[in-house]
Amino acid sequence: MADMVVTENLSRNFSGFRAVDGLSITVEEGDCFGFIGPNGAGKTTTLRMLATILKPTGGRALVGGLNVSTNARKVRRLIGYMPDVFGVYEDMLVHEYLSFFSAAYGIVGKERLRAIEMVLDLTGLHEKRNAGCKALSRGMTQRLSLARVLLHDPKLLLLDEPASGLDPRARIEFKELVLALKKLGKTLIISSHILSELGEMCNSMAIIERSRLIYCGPVEGATRQVSAQGRIVKLMIQPDPEAGRTAADALELVRGLPFVEAVRQGDREKELAVRIKPEFADIWQLNHELVSRGYKVESMAEEVVRLEDVFLQLTKGVVQ
Ligand SMILES: Nc1ncnc2c1ncn2[C@@H]1O[C@H](COP(=O)(O)OP(=O)(O)OP(=O)(O)O)[C@@H](O)[C@H]1O
Ligand SMILES: [Mg+2]
Repeated sequence: MADMVVTENLSRNFSGFRAVDGLSITVEEGDCFGFIGPNGAGKTTTLRMLATILKPTGGRALVGGLNVSTNARKVRRLIGYMPDVFGVYEDMLVHEYLSFFSAAYGIVGKERLRAIEMVLDLTGLHEKRNAGCKALSRGMTQRLSLARVLLHDPKLLLLDEPASGLDPRARIEFKELVLALKKLGKTLIISSHILSELGEMCNSMAIIERSRLIYCGPVEGATRQVSAQGRIVKLMIQPDPEAGRTAADALELVRGLPFVEAVRQGDREKELAVRIKPEFADIWQLNHELVSRGYKVESMAEEVVRLEDVFLQLTKGVVQ
């Protein structure tokens, strides 16, 4: 896959303050790339530089192989940038709004009508074409913002906090929309401070905090980095005290196994939470060891590492 976005030491100063500090990331064509960081981390500043709205003060950024500083016009044709705030065109009707931006993109005549139909289809806004922009709900407004940046059929979408302020249903609909865009072959960069939301949609991500990059790579890579400290397996056993197999016995047995780092009792007496040594891959060995000693294992499941935990772990200690 070709690189869609490459930044090398990308930086931006605002009168001495470094809003983005030496950011080096790669986004491949077709990626759905999560750009994650807390408030003030530098997400919007980075996206604005990629969108050619803001000039980098250090390093460089390439979009589709083109330098955003020296080839801004060409880069703009490749991208659709959806800012985190809606523009001030509230007196227009939805179709007027889209027509206005088509004109701004230089899309004319039949091509304009076709483009507007296409984005109304994609974003499910057909019914609202004659509604006033002002009358739209937050979710609909987000869709309209997205429709606007899709008019010129860009290859790369830069979406700044697109799901913020949406209710759960609108979030699900937004996720579906992102999947549809992925299927069309678009590359997406989506910023958010809500990790779980992006985990399901994105295949790769960058985590930034206080202007600096903390992680860049596959989503699973970040979770693996955290779970490298040892995976947790939760077991439910069926004790049989008469046969000398109590929950406490099971706990002692598990504690003595060579691939077990630590074990503790879970919320219920017959539940065990076992931390497996990082280098040990076959967690089913645990089941085998218990069963071969006569224990009944009711259930066994590896604890899924939550993205929120990954974020907390990765950013730990970096906070100034
Ligand atoms: N035009 C500007 N002038 C001065 N400082 C700025 C400017 N734009 C951004 N900053 C500062 O740069 C830092 C990064 O801001 P940025 O908006 O990129 O963060 P963010 O990650 O998008 O945060 P949020 O989640 O709140 O949207 C902040 O400390 C902000 O105050
Ligand atoms: Mg922002």
